[in-house]
Amino acid sequence: MIFNQRVVKPSESFSKQANLQKDNHSKLMNEADKSYENHWAKLAREHLSWKKPFTIPMTWNPPFVEWFADGELNISEQCLDKHLNTATAQKIALIWEGEPCEGHLPSERKTYTYAQLHAEVCAFAEGLKKQGVGRGDRVALYMPMIPEAVIAMLACARIGAPHTVVFGGFSAESLRDRILDAQAKCVITANAGFRRGKILPLKTAVDKAVSECPCVISVVVADRLGETQSSNYKVGEIPFTATQMHAGRDVWFNDICVNGSKLTAESLPAEHPLFILYTSGTTGKPKGVVHGTAGYALWTNLTCQWVFDIKPTDVYWCTADIGWVTGHSYVVYGPLSNGATVYMYEGAPDFPDYGRFWRTIEREKISIFYTAPTAIRAFMRQGDSWPQKSNLSSLRLLGSVGEPINPEAWEWYHSVIGQGACPIVDTWWQTETGGVMMSPLPGITALKPGSATRPLPGIAVEVVDDNGQAVAPGNRGKLVITKPWPSQLRTVHGDPERYAKTYWSTFAGPAGAHKEPYYFTGDGAFKDADGDIWVIGRVDDVINVAGHRIGTMEVESALVDHHCVAESAVVGVPDSVKGTAIYAFVTLKNEVKQSANWNDAKKHDLARELITHVGGIIGSFAKPDHIRFSDSLPKTRSGKIMRRLLRDVATGHESLGDTSTLEDVSVLANLRQSTDDE
Ligand code: WT7
Repeated sequence: MIFNQRVVKPSESFSKQANLQKDNHSKLMNEADKSYENHWAKLAREHLSWKKPFTIPMTWNPPFVEWFADGELNISEQCLDKHLNTATAQKIALIWEGEPCEGHLPSERKTYTYAQLHAEVCAFAEGLKKQGVGRGDRVALYMPMIPEAVIAMLACARIGAPHTVVFGGFSAESLRDRILDAQAKCVITANAGFRRGKILPLKTAVDKAVSECPCVISVVVADRLGETQSSNYKVGEIPFTATQMHAGRDVWFNDICVNGSKLTAESLPAEHPLFILYTSGTTGKPKGVVHGTAGYALWTNLTCQWVFDIKPTDVYWCTADIGWVTGHSYVVYGPLSNGATVYMYEGAPDFPDYGRFWRTIEREKISIFYTAPTAIRAFMRQGDSWPQKSNLSSLRLLGSVGEPINPEAWEWYHSVIGQGACPIVDTWWQTETGGVMMSPLPGITALKPGSATRPLPGIAVEVVDDNGQAVAPGNRGKLVITKPWPSQLRTVHGDPERYAKTYWSTFAGPAGAHKEPYYFTGDGAFKDADGDIWVIGRVDDVINVAGHRIGTMEVESALVDHHCVAESAVVGVPDSVKGTAIYAFVTLKNEVKQSANWNDAKKHDLARELITHVGGIIGSFAKPDHIRFSDSLPKTRSGKIMRRLLRDVATGHESLGDTSTLEDVSVLANLRQSTDDE
């Protein structure tokens, strides 16, 4: 299974000028090898500004870890205050562009220097405090990609209130579940956001969600529509229904800001929870991944220097939404802690056309561009003429994240976007890892299209069999991380058992090949003959759809929530743009099938209805791409749905493998005959 892959040598200019050079890299690798704790402690002393220095590098009580625990700091100081007495204070921290709201508004552009961003964060942080939000209180954010989102995150960090950002594409129900699980005291939102020329009514969803969340005492609303005097728009410029503000609960973002505030950042213990971010797992209930402060601050800072090679002159664009971990680590905390200029765009990549990204790169002179394979494939489909209309010569480094990048998309990204001159950093990591774990380093590592190559210094990964033994090159195994690391998740909010079980029980030690438990990533991988790692994809019931992580169980529960559905099984199938598409097998309740004039047209309508239903429960991005009705689902004798078989059926494979554990083999024939209804 070892590919005979093309290898792209590290570019000479990077080999001479990258932040991380070969000899330094080897030194770091050696230090980490020789004395793991001291290695990390040294980096933490060098790269973070401590309000109170730490003395204990690490405490490891498997599976719970603490890093630099007796130290104190505040990540908003790493991102803002640290720059104030330097030239960086007057440098642009954030360039924001709003999506043009078609027919109503031109696109909008705003910039903030580091000094201005600091002022805004202090003003809002003090405002939040006045709302009764303090250290340890959870705050939920449900926001479009607007500067207020970044300001709100940093303001929460400043007062020690862990934020939980919920992607604006989630439904009101998903938002409610996350607010309740986190027991958030405050929700920060906007009256609306713009996407593909449409107004997204975020506040309406918040109202719906919060009506069932007694824990919420205040809702803060940023004005994106020109309803208040402080907005950039004139009142009445965009047609909308005035936002309903609930007296005693809702306040406008700008109204609570304490202008001129110089609020000092809380001195927080290194392990103070910085945020909770919900992500899908193998059960229907998303997990609240908890990240701490210091370890996360350290690793997001260092990976920006090493992997993205961020330098003072760069203009950096990571296209992720702040609702996902990539937005947390590589739109906000990592780049700002490095004093970078961050470009942030509100809308969709293909609006108003497929030239939007490339025109932006030319106009803003973007030098570092970080996006997902699914976007690259979507652009590739539209042909070279779109990027060719723009001058992309400002680019010097490209990044990819979220799913394996297929060599074809890699080559296109490299030659058409990077014009053969930009290294591509294929960064493998997860919500749980906090920052990049594996990636080629631009001046050091030879690139292989489709491989995330090697772990970064200090990170220990292995590809193992089910007994935790390293597998020989070329053999598939499971990807594990063999040592705790500073930016790892600390627990699952409110459910430490689930944390222990999900991540640390599969390779628990000490009985097997290793003494310490290994962190199980949920991914399958193999090493090639050079020792480079190729991540194949999830080996659990999680699928990666257009870079969005979705649990098949979540979609299944949304489907059975519909009154016509008896049972459902969801699998991922390969898709040329999304990477993986959602394929749902559905068995209907007898009364539906037996109802008068149950026919193909009705089936079709029901399939559409089910798709919409899932969108309403989870969010549009989780809508199944295919619905297939079937009389029953193939199960083992113990009642487990045979997903492998369903995947084969869904992808049209003839060889269905070993079916001897099937409870009812006739089910299979049935499935093959049933037609794809959507
Ligand atoms: C899963 C994590 C990391 C931030 C965005 C996604 C897959 C991620 C790569 C890559 C192959 C990748 C894995 C991982 N994944 N990056 N470069 N190559 N696969 O975070 O939603 O937590 O998803 O995304 O399957 O487990 P996430």
